Amino acid sequence: MTGPLQRELLTREARRLAPGASEESALGRRVFVEGKGAVLTDLDGNQYIDLAAGTLTQSLGHSHPEVVAALTEQAGRLWNVHDFATPDRAALCDLLADLLPEQLDTYAFFSTGAEVVEAALRAVQAVAEPGRNRIGALRYGFHGKTQGARMLVHWDIGNQSLAGNSVLGYSPYCYRCPLDLAYPSCGVRCATLVRRHIAEKSNVSALVFEPVLGAAGVIVPPPGYWEQIADSCREHGVLLVADEVLTGGGRTGTFLASERFGIQPDLVTLSKGMASGFPFAALAGRSDVLRHPHASRAGSTASTYAGNPLAIAAAKATLEVVRRDTLIQRVDVLGALLDERLAELQATYEVLGDVRGIGLLHGLEFVRDRTTREPAPEVAHAVYQAALDLGLRTSVGGHIIRLAPPFTIDRALLEEGIALLGRALERVMGEQR
Ligand SMILES: Cc1ncc(COP(=O)(O)O)c(C=O)c1O
Repeated sequence: MTGPLQRELLTREARRLAPGASEESALGRRVFVEGKGAVLTDLDGNQYIDLAAGTLTQSLGHSHPEVVAALTEQAGRLWNVHDFATPDRAALCDLLADLLPEQLDTYAFFSTGAEVVEAALRAVQAVAEPGRNRIGALRYGFHGKTQGARMLVHWDIGNQSLAGNSVLGYSPYCYRCPLDLAYPSCGVRCATLVRRHIAEKSNVSALVFEPVLGAAGVIVPPPGYWEQIADSCREHGVLLVADEVLTGGGRTGTFLASERFGIQPDLVTLSKGMASGFPFAALAGRSDVLRHPHASRAGSTASTYAGNPLAIAAAKATLEVVRRDTLIQRVDVLGALLDERLAELQATYEVLGDVRGIGLLHGLEFVRDRTTREPAPEVAHAVYQAALDLGLRTSVGGHIIRLAPPFTIDRALLEEGIALLGRALERVMGEQR
C-alpha cells in the first residue's frame, strides 16, 4: 500500500501535473526519496529492492560513490561551455574506444535516447546515396518519442507510433510468431522475409533495429535471425544502425548486444546504461560515416546540452567502474541465476506464459491461458502492485513485467528480490482462486 505521506503528496501534485505518466508510475503510486545500491526508500520510509535499475539506467545501482564523487567534483567546477572540448571528454572517447568494437571509433554525445536516435537518422540521411530515401525498421521496435524516432515505430504502443517513411520487417517474436511457425522448424522464416524485403527495395538507406527488443517485452532473437539480416544489409549497401539505448553498456553480457549476435553495426546509439541515470547518450560510428563531409557539417553534433561536462563526468565515472570491476562478466553469472529462478516460477504459475531473457534483461509474459496465449495485463498489473507492496520494484508494460537488476546487486539480494516476486505471484493467484 502506498503510505500516507505519499498519498497526500500524490493527491496534491495530481491537481497540477499533466496525466500521461508511465503505467509503472501510475500503477505504482510511490514517491521515492533515496536510492542506495539496489535499494530504494520511499517518503514513508519503506524500502524496495530495485530490480528495474531506475529505468535500466542504474547498472551500478543508485548513488554509486564514485559517480557521486565525479559529479560533485564537476558540479563545483564547470557545467556548460556549449560543445567545447574538456579533458574528460577526450578521456571518455578513449574509454569508449577501449570498450566498443574496433570499427566503432568515432563518437558524438547527446542527452537522451530519442535525441541520439535522431542524430543517427540525420547521419544516415546525410550519407545516403540519391534515391535511398527510406529507412527500415522492425515491428515491435521502440526508438523514442521524437518525430523521426516515432516514424520507426510500427505497433500499438500508446500514441507513440507514426510509421511513415520506414519499411516494416518481421521481428523475431517466437512466442507470438506472426507466421504461425515454431523455432527451429521454421528455419527462421521471419528473417528470410526481412532479407527478401531488403533485397527487393533499392531505396532503403539503413535498417534501424534493437538487437534485443526491449520495450516490446525483451524479445530475444533465435540463432540465425541476425546473421541472415545483417548479411543481406551488407550485400545491398544498407547501413546497420543498432539502437542499443537500452541494451548497450553491458546489460546483455557483452558491452553491445550486437556483439552477442555477431552483428557489426555501422552506427550504434547508447544511453541508459552509460551514465548512472544522468541524462547522457552517445552515438558511436564508423569513421567513414561520421566523418563523411555531409554528416560532419558545422553544428551537426552540437546542441545545448550535448556533451555537457556533468554528463561526461557521469559517463566517464560509470564506464570506468564497469571496466575496472569487470561487471559485464558478473552480468552473465547473475543472469544465469535469474534464468534458473524464473524458470522455477514459470513451472509453478500457469499464468507465466513465457519467460525469456539474456544477461540481466528478462521479460515475463502474463497470459490468461497457455494454449490461447491471450495476454493478461490485469494479472501483470496486480503482480506488479503486489510486489511493490512487498518491497520489490520491477517494471511493467501491458501484460509484461521486465526485470533488469543493477550489475552490482548482491547475489543474496537478487535471490531475495526473486523470492518477493514469487510471493507476489502467490498472493495474486491466491486471490484469483
Ligand atoms: C531502444 C530505445 N531507443 C530509444 C529510446 C528512447 O530513449 P529516451 O526515453 O531517453 O528518449 C528508448 C527508451 O526506452 C529505447 O528503449
